This record gives sequence, C-alpha cells and structure tokens, in this order.
Amino acid sequence: MTATHPYDDLIAQLSVEQKVRLLTGETAFTLWAEPEIGLGALAFSDGPTGVRGLKFTGGERVALFPNATVLASSWDAEVLREVGGLLAAEARRQDVNVVLGPTVNLHRSPLGGRLFEQYSEDPLLTGVLAAAYVQGLQASGVGACLKHLVANESETERRSVDSALSEAALREVYLLPFEIAIEDADPWTLMAAYNKVNGVPATEQGHVQNEVVKGEWGWEGLIMSDWSAATRTVETAVGGLDLVMPGPGGPWEGHLVSAVHEGRVPLEMLDDKVRRLLRLADRTGRLGEGSGPERGEVPAVDSAVRVEQLTRLASRGMTLLSNVGGVLPLRPEQRVALIGRPAVTTACMGGGSAHVNAPYEVSIADGLSALHENLTVADGVEIRTRGVAARPGFVVDPATGEPGLEITLLDADGVELETRHGAETAASLGWEDGTPRPVAAAVLRGRVETGGRLEVGVIGVGRWTVALGPVEGEQYLGVPGGDPGAALLTPPSWRAEGEVEPGTVLQARVDLAPDDEGATVPGIRGLIARPAPRPTAEVIAEAAEAAADADVAVVVVGLTEEQETEAADKETLRLPGEQDALVNAVVDAAKRTVVVVNAATPVLMPWAERVDAVLVIGLPGQEGGHAVAKVLLGELEPTGRLVTTWPVADGATPGWNVAPVEGRLEYREGTYVGYRGHFPFGHAPEPAAWLGEGLGYTTWAYSNAFVEEGPAAPVAHVTLRNTGKRDSREVVQVYYRPEEPDQPVRLAGFLNVAVAAGERVEVAVPCDPRVWQRWDEESGGWASLSGKGELLIARGLGDIRARLTLG
Ligand code: BGC
Repeated sequence: MTATHPYDDLIAQLSVEQKVRLLTGETAFTLWAEPEIGLGALAFSDGPTGVRGLKFTGGERVALFPNATVLASSWDAEVLREVGGLLAAEARRQDVNVVLGPTVNLHRSPLGGRLFEQYSEDPLLTGVLAAAYVQGLQASGVGACLKHLVANESETERRSVDSALSEAALREVYLLPFEIAIEDADPWTLMAAYNKVNGVPATEQGHVQNEVVKGEWGWEGLIMSDWSAATRTVETAVGGLDLVMPGPGGPWEGHLVSAVHEGRVPLEMLDDKVRRLLRLADRTGRLGEGSGPERGEVPAVDSAVRVEQLTRLASRGMTLLSNVGGVLPLRPEQRVALIGRPAVTTACMGGGSAHVNAPYEVSIADGLSALHENLTVADGVEIRTRGVAARPGFVVDPATGEPGLEITLLDADGVELETRHGAETAASLGWEDGTPRPVAAAVLRGRVETGGRLEVGVIGVGRWTVALGPVEGEQYLGVPGGDPGAALLTPPSWRAEGEVEPGTVLQARVDLAPDDEGATVPGIRGLIARPAPRPTAEVIAEAAEAAADADVAVVVVGLTEEQETEAADKETLRLPGEQDALVNAVVDAAKRTVVVVNAATPVLMPWAERVDAVLVIGLPGQEGGHAVAKVLLGELEPTGRLVTTWPVADGATPGWNVAPVEGRLEYREGTYVGYRGHFPFGHAPEPAAWLGEGLGYTTWAYSNAFVEEGPAAPVAHVTLRNTGKRDSREVVQVYYRPEEPDQPVRLAGFLNVAVAAGERVEVAVPCDPRVWQRWDEESGGWASLSGKGELLIARGLGDIRARLTLG
C-alpha cells in the first residue's frame, strides 16, 4: 500500500496498543517516547507568563514575566512577539517542547478568576496579539498551545459548568481569537477546556473540534485535554480530542484499545491522532535521529539583559487613567509618601497553574527607594482573607539557616523518605514527589528570625499536629468545596496569634489523607508566619500622617492571588479590606494623591474623582517594583491602554453572571460583550473606563480623517500629531458601528505607532475582514454586513476623535 499521508510509514510500524499508549501523558507534563520509530518524549510546561518547567512547585527558579493583561495593554503585536521569543529560549533551556499558552478566552465578566491570564475582552485584539506571541514562540521551535477551547470565561463549577451561548456569539466572539491565531500563526496545539459548551463537554465537542477547527479551518495540529478534563473514552476520541493529559491513567489508557478493536472508534481516527502527535514531535525536533531542541545560550533569570527586558515590557502595559495637572511623573525634589500593603508586598503574578517559581519579586517600595531619596513608606490595611505562606527569610531552615523550610517526607509507616532543605514555605506534596515510596505525611519546620506578636498557622488539606511556638494542638483541614484540584489551587488554611520568641522553631506535621479512610490528597502544604495584623484604624491614621507630611502621596491598592487565580471567581469588584477607606483618608490628608492599582482586572474606584492620578500596573512580573518606580519618575512611559472596560458598579456590565444556575451559565449578553454593550449601545450604563483608554505622558491631536475602500473591508486614514514634549507611542483604534440595529459596535482595526514629540504622521488602519461579517443563525453560515454605518476613530469609545460615515 502506498503511503497517502505524512508519517504513515511510521504509523504502520505501531500496534494499536503502542498507538494508544502515545496518546496519554506518561507523567503530569511529559509524553511517552517510542524509540522504535525515533520518537523522543515531548515535554510541556505552563504557562503564559513564565516557563515553570515540569513541576507544579519546587522546580527551577525561572523568569517571571508581566501577566497577560499587562502585555496585552501594550496593544502592540511586537511586544507579544518578543515575549514569545524570550519564552521559547526559557523553554529550550529546560528542554520543554510546548508552552501551555497563550490563553485566548475573553474577559466576558470582570468577575472571572483567570482574566489575568487572558488578553482582553475583545476578540480581534486578543487574536492578533495571541498570533504574535505564537509566532515568537514557534519561530524558535517551541510549540504554543491556544487554550482553553472554548467558552471558558469563568471558574465557578469549572469542571462541570455548561456555557450556554448562541452560535453567533460562539463564532463572532469566543471562537474568533482561536480562528485569528490559527489563520495568522498556526499554533501547533490547542487545549480543550473543562466546561461544557451547549450541553457537550469541550473535550467531546465534535462540532467545535472536528467540524469547525479541524474541518472548516483545516487545522492540522493536536488537541490535548485540559488536565483531567477528559472523562469518557469513546465520546472524547470521536469528538476530536487527540491527547489525554495528564498521565498516567485517564479514560484512554487501558480502554481505547478495546474501543478500537470493537470498532467503536475507527482505526483511521486513531491513526489521525497519532499523525497529529508525530507532526508536533517533528515540528519541535523530537522525531528522527539526533533530533532534539537546541538549548542555546540563555541569559540568567537575574541577568542585566533580563532585568532590562522585563522592566521595559512591564512599563509598556502600564496604563495611566488620569493625571490631573501633570502630577506624574514625580519630580526628584518632591517628598513622597508611599502607602499600602501592595506597595510593600507587590502582587507580581496571579495564582494557579500560571504561577512560577520566580527568582525574586521586586516590591514597589524597594523599586522606588532605590531611585527616589525623599521617600517614606507606610504599610497599608490588610487585604487578604486566607492565610499566606511565610516570606522565605522571615522563617529559615533550622538546620542550614537558609531562607525557607526544612521539610521531611514520611511514608505510610512513618519512615523518613527524604529531607528537603531550604524548601519553599508552601510546596505541593503527594503528587510526583520523586520519592521511592508514596509520601503519606510530612514534617515542616522553620525558625523564626524576628519575634514578637505573630500570626502563625498552616496551609493545606490534611490532619495537622502543630507546635507553632505558643500555639499547639491538632487541626483538620478538608478539601475545599469537594474539588480535589482546589487543594492545589486554593488550599484551605488555619491561623492563630501569639507572642513568639526570636529563634523559635515552628513545627507542623501533616498527614496527607484528611480522614482515616480517605486517600492521600495531593496539594499545597505550607507554614504561615508573619507579624500579627495591626488594628485598621491605627494603620489608616499612620498612613494619613505620612501623607500629610509629603508633597505627593502614592497609595498602592490592589488584589491578591485570592481574587486573581485559577479555580475561583470574584464576587465583587470592590477592593478587598478597607482599601477604599485608606485612599479616602489619604486624600483628606495629602496635598496631591496618586493611586497605583496593582490588579490585572477591573476594580471599583469610588474615589476616582477625588484623586489626582490613577495608574494601573497589573501584575507586573519579577521586575514590577523597578518598572513602577521608573514609570512614576518618568524614566519610562506608561504606554498601556485598557484591555477591559471597567464598570462603575458591581453588575453594571453586559456580562456579569459567573455562577451557573442548575449547571448552566447563560451568556445572555450574546455578542454584546464588554464595551460592545455599554452606553450608548444599550446593554449597560456608561463605564468608569473604556477598553482602549490610557493617557501616557504626552497628548495627541487627530485630524484629516477619511475612509478609503480596501480589498475586503475599508481602510481608515488619519493624521496624528504628538502635541506633547515627549517622544511617545499612540494606539490608533478604529471601531465599526454597523447600521444594522442588531449588530454591536466592534473594534475593527488598530495600529501602534511611535511618534516623536511635535511630529505628525499619517496613518492608515485597515479594518479586519474577520469582524466585517456576522454569523447567520438561519442559514448556519457567515453573511456580510451591509457595510453601512460609521467608523469611529477613538481613544476608547469615551473619547471619539473622528466619525466617518460609510455607505
Ligand atoms: C489549567 C491549564 C493548565 C493545566 C496544567 C489546568 O488546571 O486549566 O490552563 O495548563 O492545568 O497545569
């Protein structure tokens, strides 16, 4: 028989058993090798903002990039392409073949817990930026993984929620970023989500996976399941899934062989999956003799070159929402009071699988004190509700004095398996521990260097016996919400306060099975130790005093990985704790007040009109504090534009609900997502800030706008002048408002352009034909729009600079 498909000669050499084995992971993040056909073992790693490696915790220290919304806020494909290239180098250094990103789900509701991993609420912006990231990564031989296919916009009941949406919303909005990235950059893999889509699990979605992605779009890559998302054998196999992750185990191992032999899954279908896997191996250099990715020279995670890159990339996405009287940049002679918990412990990344083991995280207090002399720092109010693991250095390994813990792992008979020194203060245990026998219990020990009134405690599922200075006893912590994944992603905690002498060794033993009958639960376990929280009134009074003594008060407010995380959604956009009261007290006391928002996603800013400037910094990565300091002082410009519309109040947005009702989550707003549904478009009141808003440190004049016909959609022209004193960048945004009353306004094109101070440039922004159409439910196909209506050239739809009539 002649081979009709690539790789057929190799596939022909494999038995059904061998083929099936290849289609489930060997471990959490690696696949099986098949030496007989020259196939090496592929390795995958999370995640969008750093290449964590093959371990969930405790792996190598790797570079922590700014989070996805910061990168996307640059509105600059070149930024994303550069990041893709840098991540590819980080991946190659660790022999990783596929990086599990980018995440191209959309900011449907601002409550979504994983928004920080996703680019924006707009499908075009998301798709174009994702394509650039994929190109950057794959140009270096490292595969990308677009995730999570599809309609995976929130985390409540995440393993079972049924996202219910019209085919029009699916095609025009939620599939569009996948389609754009596939068409423009051909990512080598996709990840099928945990949720259902219109009643069918994403991993079994024949309509999406087979008909649309592999059929209509002709895509030849590989679809893997999200981790443990695939549960059924035949349904997933015929539904278009190609690879079950993680392994070992899962619904294919041991079951798919008989399903093929019995004809329930056709052999050609199995071969097609193997073909897609071999193509991936080929593309990443894992197929054939002597192959394998080259490691190359990669700068160290803390090298000067990485410091420069990570600082600059963070500043590119920082977004200035107001700047009354040019209070920013700060001037060297000004006395500055820097206030707030996130100023002292800045949130540099979100929680969950996007988490990486960073070499360090520069706080804003450290960053600013290195560059500005006239500075006082005041801690702010408490912003967390759950316990947080001790800062390494606040506790040290009692045996070695290294920052971190000593962790002794025990087997079921209490026999020591291994002792780890200088371990992280919270580590995942009970999963791929690398011990000769399974870990049944662990003893965590840490010496407190500074004494005083401390908060001490433990984190993680299990039966705990604690001897934490004055606090002794037993504690039982169960699996949160019955979801075993939550033991890893949102572990429970227990805390108490007491006087602790300096040099005290805190010790806690945990049995990894929460009850006597139960099996070991894999998940994070850690020790809590930090100074006991002070009364809020006292903290606020001290902050106000510092503000009164300064020329400018800079208050940093924000969220933590409690809100911006996988596995949980927010319930409100209100800042946690008494942060609003803190800002108001500072405004009352200070001459000028700048608020820095350390959050990736919208928060409510009831004080917005009272303050002089608002700067959104997202989760800025390991160099966060340095980048913020340089931006505040004007050494770097905050050139970001918002990627999400910020509502004025809870609920004041077109898509708000994230809690399924009887398992179903209705995407009721249809295609009117985010800015598309706000005033004056009818579905939600005017927002606090629009997608696309952002000032920077210069001003812009727009003139001579006109429209010209393009090959498939119009091209908008405009003359742009940088009217300020500083060389800068502008994002020219073109929105299309169709004449059809049932069609939402939409971003149709954008261009990022550098313009020197005082200079003028003529720019042409082509509208993307992929938003110049609508899905016609009746005929089940794409239909053109009339092409009539208006083009709006705007700096976000709250600041429209030109209106051009079409047709
Ligand atoms: C997440 C994925 C991630 C995977 C592997 C899952 O919980 O949803 O985004 O890539 O874990 O860590």
